[in-house]
Amino acid sequence: MRESTMAVQGMLVLQLMLVVVVLVSTAIAAPTTVALKEHNCMQRCGNVIIPYPFGVEENCSLDEHYLITCNESKPYYGNMPILNISYEDAELRVMKLIARDCYNQSGSPLSNNSDTKLTLPKFSISNTKNKFTAVGCDTLGTIKVSRNNDSATTGCTSRCSNSSYVDDGICSGIGCCQSSIPRGVGNNYISLDSYKNHTDVWDFNPCSYAFVVEEGAFTFSKSYLRDFNEERLPMVIDWAVGNMTCQNAKTSKASYACGDNSDCYDRKNGLGYTCKCWNGYQGNPYLSDGCQEINECDDSNLNKCEHKNKCENKPLGNYTCHCPKGYHGDGRSDGEGCTANRFLIIQIVIGKYLC
Ligand SMILES: *[C@@H]1O[C@H](CO)[C@@H](O)[C@H](O)[C@H]1NC(C)=O
Ligand SMILES: *[C@@H]1O[C@H](CO)[C@@H](O)[C@H](O)[C@H]1NC(C)=O
Ligand SMILES: *[C@@H]1O[C@H](CO)[C@@H](O)[C@H](O)[C@H]1NC(C)=O
Ligand SMILES: *[C@@H]1O[C@H](CO)[C@@H](O)[C@H](O)[C@H]1NC(C)=O
Ligand SMILES: *[C@@H]1O[C@H](CO)[C@@H](O)[C@H](O)[C@H]1NC(C)=O
Ligand SMILES: *[C@@H]1O[C@H](CO)[C@@H](O)[C@H](O)[C@H]1NC(C)=O
Ligand SMILES: *[C@@H]1O[C@H](CO)[C@@H](O)[C@H](O)[C@H]1NC(C)=O
Ligand SMILES: *[C@@H]1O[C@H](CO)[C@@H](O)[C@H](O)[C@H]1NC(C)=O
Ligand SMILES: *[C@@H]1O[C@H](CO)[C@@H](O)[C@H](O)[C@H]1NC(C)=O
Ligand SMILES: *[C@@H]1O[C@H](CO)[C@@H](O)[C@H](O)[C@H]1NC(C)=O
Repeated sequence: MRESTMAVQGMLVLQLMLVVVVLVSTAIAAPTTVALKEHNCMQRCGNVIIPYPFGVEENCSLDEHYLITCNESKPYYGNMPILNISYEDAELRVMKLIARDCYNQSGSPLSNNSDTKLTLPKFSISNTKNKFTAVGCDTLGTIKVSRNNDSATTGCTSRCSNSSYVDDGICSGIGCCQSSIPRGVGNNYISLDSYKNHTDVWDFNPCSYAFVVEEGAFTFSKSYLRDFNEERLPMVIDWAVGNMTCQNAKTSKASYACGDNSDCYDRKNGLGYTCKCWNGYQGNPYLSDGCQEINECDDSNLNKCEHKNKCENKPLGNYTCHCPKGYHGDGRSDGEGCTANRFLIIQIVIGKYLC
């Protein structure tokens, strides 16, 4: 009698422990797809998909750093229009204002675009996808970066007495110069200076321009020295979550942002980490139920089965190909494929012979 009570109590304790374990292991920070739906969170703004951790409304984004403004079906990050947001590469592609500095013939400054300050407290300008670029023939373009109390300046200079040294179509260093973006550049300030207020070059180059631009999104043209009308150009921002390494982030389940079936990656360009679905899974890794198994059999581009209807989906991003009756082999177009069984060949041969 006593023993059986103890056994029952023991089972109860065990069940309780199980419940606790389950509760703890599911209490991760990443919200579910359903939770976002329940909050009526906007999934897109105009043509641009807004994936979590980004969101348009309060309670739909991870925190205020991931808030997007959706105005008249156009998304903005701060005052910068957004082209797209990717959770695969943890990138935010925005249209960034160009700095310009123009002079009249006698060297008096005309328009002066002072809105060249960029505040990115948590994210960094992609150092691999962008270049700092300055255009002009009496031009010193600088980008000053600041982090806590430290500041640093980089940039490039271009001087030319006339346009004969300037290559059309190439940012060669004369008329147009470029420099790399260092890692971890968040807040920054772009400024332009000239040596002689463009007085020596005014007839073909009255203005200087400077900007950070996605490589491949800007092609220099000689005509830009006279007139460059673009107001904004694309720039890639690297985003991440948290401000710790993966190792430290994982110890705090309450703030760990990666969902199920995903891995954590330390960020290379600044603090924090990014999440990626496991191989064979796809979806938004920042949602707890975002990473879903890929069924390779549903998409004929994803499997190499010779007979698409003989594809069998397997867990962990795998699948097996089968052969039709009377054939054998691995069924893969990049493998053995399917070969007719011996007796079938004989049948066919006999069949031919009889005919
Ligand atoms: C956001 O969530 C908090 C706490 O759950 C709640 O008090 C607040 O009303 C919510 N805001 C919106 C806009 O739903
Ligand atoms: C939305 O955009 C319009 C014009 O594009 C502008 O007048 C308005 O101030 C914007 N509203 C907000 C909240 O930014
Ligand atoms: C994002 O926008 C750029 C430029 O418009 C485009 O080249 C790229 O394919 C887009 N990426 C995604 C994931 O939509
Ligand atoms: C340039 O601007 C200055 C100041 O506005 C003015 O005094 C000067 O006459 C202008 N020069 C020319 C050539 O327009
Ligand atoms: C040259 O430009 C600077 C501002 O860029 C201005 O302060 C200075 O007065 C200009 N010099 C002349 C001679 O106009
Ligand atoms: C441009 O304007 C800003 C602020 O109005 C000023 O600090 C800066 O010196 C100006 N630059 C030039 C070249 O006039
Ligand atoms: C920044 O500078 C202030 C005063 O100059 C100093 O008190 C503070 O400790 C510095 N912070 C860092 C992170 O260096
Ligand atoms: C450029 O300047 C050089 C020397 O000042 C001159 O010989 C040449 O003709 C100029 N070329 C053009 C296209 O103005
Ligand atoms: C890291 O993030 C936490 C929570 O958002 C914040 O309290 C803390 O100050 C941050 N630490 C640094 C070094 O940014
Ligand atoms: C997928 O299955 C094939 C054969 O069934 C096996 O050779 C391969 O290692 C598997 N791949 C993974 C990632 O499990």
